[in-house]
Amino acid sequence: MARKKIALIGSGMIGGTLAHIAAREELGDVVLFDIAEGLPQGKALDLAESTPVYNASVSLKGANDYADIKGADVCIVTAGVARKPGMSRDDLLGINLKVMKAVGEGLKANCPDAFVICITNPLDAMVWALQQFSGFKTNKVVGMAGVLDSSRFAYFLSEKTGVSVADIHAWTLAGHGDDMVPMVRHSTVGGLPLPELVKQGWMTQADLDGIVDRTRKGGGEIVALLKTGSAYYAPAESAISMAKAYLNDQKRVLPVAAWCQGEYGLDGMYVGVPAVLGAGGAEKVVEFDLNDAERAMFAKSVTSVQGLIAACKEIDGSLA
Ligand code: APR
Repeated sequence: MARKKIALIGSGMIGGTLAHIAAREELGDVVLFDIAEGLPQGKALDLAESTPVYNASVSLKGANDYADIKGADVCIVTAGVARKPGMSRDDLLGINLKVMKAVGEGLKANCPDAFVICITNPLDAMVWALQQFSGFKTNKVVGMAGVLDSSRFAYFLSEKTGVSVADIHAWTLAGHGDDMVPMVRHSTVGGLPLPELVKQGWMTQADLDGIVDRTRKGGGEIVALLKTGSAYYAPAESAISMAKAYLNDQKRVLPVAAWCQGEYGLDGMYVGVPAVLGAGGAEKVVEFDLNDAERAMFAKSVTSVQGLIAACKEIDGSLA
């Protein structure tokens, strides 16, 4: 069987990290694409020169021409601009929407059967725009945000409780903004739901509230520290876990920006929900039971995403 082909659209901080992990894990041959000349070629060559050290039998290539991603099995999209301190993800909308148009057309012309994972922010609106511009089936286009937000949530819970991250299952739903919804009742440490941990004295309610708040603002915390850009290691690892679920038909339930038509009462939109990822892409949305408070938080976040989609439609009439 021929090797799989992984196309990385955007070869910046996340794109380069994705290429590194994809090569080390031998997911397939990697094409790094970017509009910047030399950047994808330089990163691809540097990474290719490292493969003899760890014996990875994959090729890495840099490209400025969409023809080079022809036939890709998986495309991970990070093209666009990242946040700087003082910016919200929504501030990126105007610039990144134009980028999604170019990327959508490039994917449509060259790899119409690919599974597409969008990382570019503002995530929920950009994954929607990418699906619209590419015309791909909604199950083959997803957004990466929930795996990252949930991983941050799990890490903070591990730090507080001293329990291994391996035994923590944390979930965040809804949009990838500061009004995301960390699912306190559905997340567990060693099988115990978080409210039970508070009852048993593992942490106070104030500790738990602090962790929820830090999770919501997790991206901004990294931006403030780095000063020149946004997070890239954890986003890259998160997208790779999604790519592996597709390539290996793992049927993993991961929180991703998936198309909801009826689920969670939504009438055709992308938002963060748990979904089964396998060879069919996003095969099924998993519906958590939400109580009134959770439903209200989810609705607030959905309203923000809908506002961003409306803004996209205003900027680009072809989306209306
Ligand atoms: N086509 C292809 N690549 C593009 C285009 C385009 N039209 N426009 C910009 N790029 C490239 C840039 O040249 C740059 O190399 O996208 C890359 C983005 O890389 P970084 O600026 O390093 O950003 P990164 O940290 O990788 O984040 C990318 O993911 O998490 C989100 O908010 C983040 O939207 C941002 C994206």
